[in-house]
Amino acid sequence: MKVLITAGPTREALDPMRFISNRSSGKMGYALAEAAVKAGHETVLVSGPCALTQPEGLAKFISVVSAADMAEAVKAEFPAADTAIMCAAVADYRPKKFSASKIKKSDDTLVIELERTEDILASLGKMKRADQKLIGFAAETDDMEKNAIGKLQRKNLDWIAANRLDLPGQGAESNTNTVILFSVKGEQVTIPLASKREVAEEILKITGVNESCKGNLSI
Ligand code: CTP
Repeated sequence: MKVLITAGPTREALDPMRFISNRSSGKMGYALAEAAVKAGHETVLVSGPCALTQPEGLAKFISVVSAADMAEAVKAEFPAADTAIMCAAVADYRPKKFSASKIKKSDDTLVIELERTEDILASLGKMKRADQKLIGFAAETDDMEKNAIGKLQRKNLDWIAANRLDLPGQGAESNTNTVILFSVKGEQVTIPLASKREVAEEILKITGVNESCKGNLSI
């Protein structure tokens, strides 16, 4: 199976020195890519800037910086993929203007105008064929279930993996995670706290990406 995975943050440049980004370490997405390679899938990883080593055995590694770069790469790769898993923490806004010169300090306050970036996962949801599987993530601090199911439906996903950003042992920079998977068919499966590698393997099993391993599930 051909599996497309995104990982890491994006960076939205303000000037040649500065950017807006987020705390994503890329660990969950890289763990998913490693698990997909291990399961024998032809795996393409599109990664925003992070400090991790490229997993061995990938079919392709595409390094990107901004949300616009990631959108271009992912939309080019998606038609050839059987499954796409969007784990990247894509910036929702970017500075409206990029200043080619370094912004100098002047007043006591500085207002930066931001504009929306493309919702890449929603774009994939519109492009998705009946033979493709689309899996997203939802990182939440409040109303996790309601928000995750809203994103699942709005973005035309098959599954969404929801996790809390505000609890210890899970989320952006942690080495461990716990997620609840929701499917468009109404299934709900909790993956208890474990290393991101173990959680990645469970996500591939539960969502049917690793079809042969589906037997040992408790839903
Ligand atoms: N995502 C994306 N493009 C964006 C923003 C998010 O593809 N511009 C994807 C993420 O990769 C993730 C899913 O959408 O798989 C949900 O991301 P999240 O940040 O939790 O939610 P948002 O859709 O950005 O909604 P909100 O900021 O309102 O929580």
